[in-house]
Amino acid sequence: MSLVPMSVLLNKANSLGYAVGAFNTNNMEITQGIIDGAAAERSPVIVQCSEGGLEYAGADMVVAMVKSLAQDADIPVALHLDHGKKFTNIVKCIRAGFTSVMMDASHLPLEDNIAMVKKVVEIAHAAGVTVEAELGRISGIEDNVSVSERHAILTDPAEAERFVAETGVDALAVAVGTAHGPRKFKGEPRLELDLIREIKQRTRIPLVMHGASAVPREVIEKAVCYGAQLQGTSGVPDEAVRKAVENGINKVNIDTDMRLAMVAALREALYTDPGVTDPRKVLGPARSAVSEIVRQKIAILGSAGKA
Ligand code: G3H
Ligand code: 13P
Ligand code: ZN
Repeated sequence: MSLVPMSVLLNKANSLGYAVGAFNTNNMEITQGIIDGAAAERSPVIVQCSEGGLEYAGADMVVAMVKSLAQDADIPVALHLDHGKKFTNIVKCIRAGFTSVMMDASHLPLEDNIAMVKKVVEIAHAAGVTVEAELGRISGIEDNVSVSERHAILTDPAEAERFVAETGVDALAVAVGTAHGPRKFKGEPRLELDLIREIKQRTRIPLVMHGASAVPREVIEKAVCYGAQLQGTSGVPDEAVRKAVENGINKVNIDTDMRLAMVAALREALYTDPGVTDPRKVLGPARSAVSEIVRQKIAILGSAGKA
């Protein structure tokens, strides 16, 4: 199948009440793992690439890989720029064939965020490309912050309503208590389900949860068993992600869990066969590990069979 605009996948998920997984790639094995995993579950999927990923692999290479794999897969696939901060990268991705871009101006004051996203919506929509934006700060939330400090970080529902109405954005990333990377929480994870519901009720558009990796204990233990040093890791439990989807999240971003699973598989393959000289013997199991994570996430998000 040809690549589809991300809004096609997310609008269906929004009306039927499930979420589509968005998985980060920057090489062939990860991309194959993502699309193979989604195809095995008959699920739509979003393959996304960060600005760092673009620098590593090149925009044209990413488009060529994803297009070619999607062509053979018989499931709908969207290709999305994750956390685009530079306008030049937005334009580069639209020109190269991405079907969606994120304009992440969440670090700017509200008025500037609105102005920037409006500009991107204008050019992206003219090319049939979907736009995601972010409001609030998706960063580590420590245990000992006060209620007012926590609320300064989280997305404000009234601002979200205004932001969506003024920008015409297709999907909104919200700060509801998650954080990027393998060390998300100092204490217990706490997702703001009421906040998700209120933002959905005011905006009605697909909502996005970043920083949704679970950082599974068994994956960490496997990596450590083969020599990794990974202290103080913690993630979002599967049940919390499921509840977030029930309350209005329609796109769930996962990168860390695939990275961890890949690294654990690479370490295991290298350790168990010290004489290995064929990279495929090491990269093949890492690719399967990515695929397994993607299948597990699809089961949690409710998108299996929705292709
Ligand atoms: O949200 C960030 C993603 O995990 C991508 O990370 O910038 O290291 O590629 P990256
Ligand atoms: P994780 O670090 O939790 O996988 O989040 C990835 C993400 O939000 C990419 O935009
Ligand atoms: Zn993110």
